[in-house]
Amino acid sequence: MPVSIATLPALNAALNATSAVLLVAGYLFIRRRKVTQHKLCMLSAFGVSCVFLISYLTLRYYAGMTRFTGQGWIRPVYFSILTSHTILAAAIVPLALVTLSRAFRGRLDRHVRIARWTLPLWLYVSVTGVLVYWILYHLFPPGVIEGSAGHAG
Ligand code: HEM
Repeated sequence: MPVSIATLPALNAALNATSAVLLVAGYLFIRRRKVTQHKLCMLSAFGVSCVFLISYLTLRYYAGMTRFTGQGWIRPVYFSILTSHTILAAAIVPLALVTLSRAFRGRLDRHVRIARWTLPLWLYVSVTGVLVYWILYHLFPPGVIEGSAGHAG
């Protein structure tokens, strides 16, 4: 059954939430010295984030940008979250690749050094991804502008 474009924003938010859970689980596993489970969680988080990227680009290609309809104080808040999310999402790609590569080459001291940046930044990107979705599609649904009785702008 083909996936409708309208379902992609919710799917993207679910993928972001899943990668956040996998990253936290992977961290908790390595704190308990469970290397295999850590590896599995981190590779799964990477896979889920790759699926997210494909789904996100598909959505942008077919649906373009969704206009943010919130007015007042929420605008700078929303755009600050969106901007930091977007910039850091781009940074995660090389950071995650280098972190993985160092782990697979057994350069564990250097793996840990970069992973201490990769992990919190990746977590921030995943959590703000869900937050942006919730603000954009649920808190201020597209086509409903505050004080304009539901008229699309
Ligand atoms: C991009 C994905 C990954 C991230 C974000 C990540 C994150 C981390 C972090 C934050 C630590 C340090 C934990 C602490 O503070 O004690 C760590 C340690 C470790 N990671 Fe990863 N990891 C990733 C992928 C992997 C993979 C794929 C492997 C296995 C092939 C692996 C193997 C290890 C090992 C063995 C340690 C312990 C190193 C030591 O204490 O000497 N990691 N990882």
